[in-house]
Amino acid sequence: MAYSYPKDNREFIKALEKSGDLVTVEQEVDWDLELGAIVRRVCEKKLPSPYFKSITDYPGFEALGAPLATYRRLAVAMGMNPGSSIPEIADEYVKRTTSEPIHPVVVDRKDAPCKENILTGDDADLFRLPGPMVHDGDGGRYLATWHFVVSKDPDTQDINWGMYRIMVFDEKTMVGPVLPFSDMGKMFHGKFAPKNKPMPFAVVIACDPLSGMAACAPSPIPEDQFAGMLMGEPVEVVRCETCDLEVPAHAEIIIEGEVIPNVEIEEAPFGEYTGYRTSPREPRTVYRVKTITHRNNAILTVSNMGVPTDEGQLLRSFSLGLEMRKLLESQGIPITGVYMLPESTHHMVVVGVRPAYSNIASQIANLIYGSKLSPWFHMVVVVDEETDIYNKDDIIHALSTKCHPARGIRIYEHGVGTPLNPYASPEERIWSRGAKVLFDCTFPLDWPKSDLPIKVAFNTMYPKDIQEKVLNNWKNYGFQE
Ligand SMILES: Cc1cc2nc3c(=O)[nH]c(=O)nc-3n(C[C@H](O)[C@H](O)[C@H](O)COP(=O)(O)O)c2cc1C
Repeated sequence: MAYSYPKDNREFIKALEKSGDLVTVEQEVDWDLELGAIVRRVCEKKLPSPYFKSITDYPGFEALGAPLATYRRLAVAMGMNPGSSIPEIADEYVKRTTSEPIHPVVVDRKDAPCKENILTGDDADLFRLPGPMVHDGDGGRYLATWHFVVSKDPDTQDINWGMYRIMVFDEKTMVGPVLPFSDMGKMFHGKFAPKNKPMPFAVVIACDPLSGMAACAPSPIPEDQFAGMLMGEPVEVVRCETCDLEVPAHAEIIIEGEVIPNVEIEEAPFGEYTGYRTSPREPRTVYRVKTITHRNNAILTVSNMGVPTDEGQLLRSFSLGLEMRKLLESQGIPITGVYMLPESTHHMVVVGVRPAYSNIASQIANLIYGSKLSPWFHMVVVVDEETDIYNKDDIIHALSTKCHPARGIRIYEHGVGTPLNPYASPEERIWSRGAKVLFDCTFPLDWPKSDLPIKVAFNTMYPKDIQEKVLNNWKNYGFQE
């Protein structure tokens, strides 16, 4: 069954406008820092998405900033009520993404708006697109911050869509980091570069929001099928101009070319999702551009990573947490829920559990830290049913009262990390190494029941009939909420 959801970037903009989650900026803004500064402030103040109608030097182009930086916008992208709660959105996401994979369908190029303008030869010039200077101190203009790179595995023919940031180097060259444990990293460094073969790519900028969500989700299912699962119907794709790849037909901008083996160009610095500039200038993966296609009046999407909350933090936390939930449920662990906090820059995950047997928290941490998901975070907090995993006050309370400072904290010294961890030493960053930690906030099962501290809270301290009476009379007492 196809869900009701915005089918492209333009329908998404209309839906955000309708739900009150968009501000249309008519005043001209400069691609050189001004646009980036606005998007940054929007993220920090949790404001509606800015829709820029006029960009200095780029008549005919527009931009949407911070497209998915709040749960309200995520709900709109899923076609849900914007006021849906986080558990409601999470349950809907899990329901859709545990259905059967849905393969894309290829449409005719005449039905593909992304082919409205085709730039080849000298016209395929990256400076014709309004790539912004996102943060002061960035190593260049970042054209691709909310986008994905399409590639195809030469052995399995599986398609990979992955979000890997990309900086413009010159008219026909882009450069960016592709981490060694990412799917594209394994494909390019494992299957193309050793044979000195260029790898065809297509960068897709600004398509429907669910395809973007799929591209940054850590799912084992190829993302072009995963996007179909989120939509409940196939993604419509069209063949590229220069290679054997397909891209979403309704996308605003497509950049086609080849990733060049055994050549690297310096990229960054860049302000990162951790809230720090943790990307130094280093030699990174090179994309040579052959052709650019775009819609009339193309609308770029721009993410500005930094301190919380941007869409990378929100969506990566959301999807990483829910993949962990699927993993733990598939192993029959009696969990009550999993929530990764976007404010932790997807470093801290809270797992709710019924502590049915001893050392269940360690079992959870071992499973999570042993999985493919683990490079991106390093704090697992396990709480029992008393703690609301979506309530930050409750989590802090459990951490500071139930986790024993010595035996409640377990350190895992040898983990896979990312080069972006602000706490990691220069050597750990080079080798993508990271330590991990478990905070066990459950009381030991071998304590006598009579020794268990009783939580002093409204819902634990009063008989049910008194709670109901108070709740039923709440407004009569004179309270509004
Ligand atoms: C805005 C944004 C930018 C990202 N940039 C990079 C990047 O430059 N390099 C990288 O390896 N991963 C990056 N990631 C993380 C990947 O998108 C993420 O690991 C995704 O799951 C990739 O899929 P894969 O597992 O198929 O490689 C970024 C994520 C987001 C949300």
